[in-house]
Amino acid sequence: MKALITSGGRGTRLQPITHTQNKHLIPIANKAILHYAIDAVVEAGIRDIAIVVNADDDEVERAIGYGEAWDARIRYIPQEAPLGLAHVVKIAQDFIQDDPFLFYLGDNMVVGGVKRFVERFENGGGNCHLTLAKVKDPSRFGVPELRGKHIVSIEEKPVHPKSDYAVAGIYIYDSSIFEAVNAIRPSARGELEISDAHQYLLDNGYQVTYSEITGWWKDTGKPSDLLEANRLVLENLAPYQEGSADAQSLLAGKVTLEKGAQVINSHIRGPVIIGKNTVIKNSYIGPYTAIYHDSLIEKSEIEFSIVMERCRITDVGIRIESSILGSGVEVVRAQDKPRTHRFILGAQSHLEIV
Ligand code: G1P
Repeated sequence: MKALITSGGRGTRLQPITHTQNKHLIPIANKAILHYAIDAVVEAGIRDIAIVVNADDDEVERAIGYGEAWDARIRYIPQEAPLGLAHVVKIAQDFIQDDPFLFYLGDNMVVGGVKRFVERFENGGGNCHLTLAKVKDPSRFGVPELRGKHIVSIEEKPVHPKSDYAVAGIYIYDSSIFEAVNAIRPSARGELEISDAHQYLLDNGYQVTYSEITGWWKDTGKPSDLLEANRLVLENLAPYQEGSADAQSLLAGKVTLEKGAQVINSHIRGPVIIGKNTVIKNSYIGPYTAIYHDSLIEKSEIEFSIVMERCRITDVGIRIESSILGSGVEVVRAQDKPRTHRFILGAQSHLEIV
């Protein structure tokens, strides 16, 4: 089996973070979102992987490389324009050939991996095996209509969803999917929709089966999804300490200190991860916080937040919470007292509190 992973798109709902960074490279618990997708694919026993990238940038290729770290082979397929997920499948036909493959949307995160779905497909999963997850807002997704244990139809972002399920971004196909993606026409928004390809399979007598994702699944499209994913991954992370904390510091719960991280006269209440060469001084870092590499937090308090690399947060009077700070962001104290803080800041932002 091969794997095809997406990493394109503009990530408009995550601006300004995505002005300077591909959304798939945003760190969740100090590891790029896309990294988790590759981990899941490799853990399912797949070593032959292609990642579809925006044709106009090589950021993903530079960050992820060619698979040595996973003992896998990763190649890159450029997509000239965002013409839809079925178009992504279409342009990957040369790579896939006649093999079965796992199609994984690189911004989806799922606890427990994907091996169980691959096994289900291999043990009689038909031509197409989908994964379904119960959601509060099905209109944002592809939505199946179910009758008994069967999917009878699938609609993309329906105004009146026919079930409480979303089709998650983890799909397994045999080569019949190429017939489907080559037959369908663009939707009203001008894209070749993957849901239309699934509907084509249903209409033409192909067997479409599914597994339900009963644990946790997220499509990390919005800032609140990132914080939620970060919370969940931190909760499940086995902590390790390669950095240092002085005798005046108090570390409670699951606290990971990456290499060269320094904690000085501070209180850290896990689950928390502190990145390489980051310094935490005279501060409080609360649960569900990930601080990436080469940052400085001094005389400040942060909780339930994601702070990316090379940030500087000093002497901020009120606790920062539910915030996402892009790389190189500076938040420093100004003269007057602030009353509240809630930040979503893009890379290179500089914020002074009044
Ligand atoms: C895409 C698919 C949709 C699916 C979702 C899962 O939507 O079109 O069918 O439910 O991924 O993440 P998009 O995230 O492109 O809006």
